[in-house]
Amino acid sequence: MRRLPPVLLEDGCPRELISLIRTVLAACKEISFRVGQGALSGVLGSTLDENIQGETQKKLDVLTNQLLKDILLESGYVKAIASEEEDFTVAGNPDANYIVAFDPLDGSSNTDINSLVGTIFSIMAAPEGADPADPSIFMQPGKNQVAAGYVLYGPSTVLALTTGKGTRFFTLDKTHGTFLLTQDFATVPEETSEFAINASNQRHWQPAMQNYINDLIAGDTGPRGRNFNMRWIAAMVGDVHRVLCRGGIFTYPTDTKDPNKPNKLRLLYEANPMAMLIEQAGGIASTGTERIMDIQPDAIHQRVAVILGSKNEVETCLSYHK
Ligand code: AHG
Ligand code: MN
Ligand code: MN
Repeated sequence: MRRLPPVLLEDGCPRELISLIRTVLAACKEISFRVGQGALSGVLGSTLDENIQGETQKKLDVLTNQLLKDILLESGYVKAIASEEEDFTVAGNPDANYIVAFDPLDGSSNTDINSLVGTIFSIMAAPEGADPADPSIFMQPGKNQVAAGYVLYGPSTVLALTTGKGTRFFTLDKTHGTFLLTQDFATVPEETSEFAINASNQRHWQPAMQNYINDLIAGDTGPRGRNFNMRWIAAMVGDVHRVLCRGGIFTYPTDTKDPNKPNKLRLLYEANPMAMLIEQAGGIASTGTERIMDIQPDAIHQRVAVILGSKNEVETCLSYHK
């Protein structure tokens, strides 16, 4: 098994970017330990605070955000950071070349039930000479990402990483504290019989998505002529990991449940990094009308509809939207 740096060096990845990725992973190793301690270290449950998006923060949302923020800013490798749990971007080293957007703990509603959670991150180059305090440095489409990944804190701690040369899996060897390469070049199977949705929202979706899912549920009695199975972890990081491992379609589509919040998932630190990992593994990531990584952002906490996964199934879903 090979360690992280030789693999990325062989890809021609700049040393500074490797060091930045290692810095993110240093925080994730500690998060893995903290999450694993669970009730023993008093980190479960909620705080009394809300983030800027009006969501109650879990204790672990706050703790994981602080860990990543401190380690990244101290490292000197980042010009600025953007986080789900920070109202605004935070300036770092003016001379640094990279910016990082992250969801410190995805699926945090799962913390108290000992179910899957993870950290999602997206790395882009900072525009040259840009002011680290200027949030517009984050207003770049996802296709500009130079690296993207997540760390899934499950029965084992797994890193999915891409630097634009395929998607790889690494597993944290907890005896040595090292991420070891355990799968080179993940590929999402083009065909699938699995879908991942929060079905309780179905009546609020647009007709195209309702029709598509109705046809999946109709199985061999409907137009698809075969049966589909449903899986839902309620943490994007867990659902996307399953799709990367064995295929599937994951969607969190636009809904009308709350007119102020037509979409749930955030572009910069959820949709974009997952889209890059999925595309680098041969899958598709779309909003229903456009490629996720082509979207020009206009706000750091901007939300988008997400449809991603196995190529043929996502294309079928998109055909309902035409
Ligand atoms: P977060 O915990 O970072 O706020 O993200 C949760 C997201 C995503 O992971 C998941 O797919 C979705 O919210 C589930 O939400 P619902 O259970 O409300 O459908
Ligand atoms: Mn999230
Ligand atoms: Mn989160």
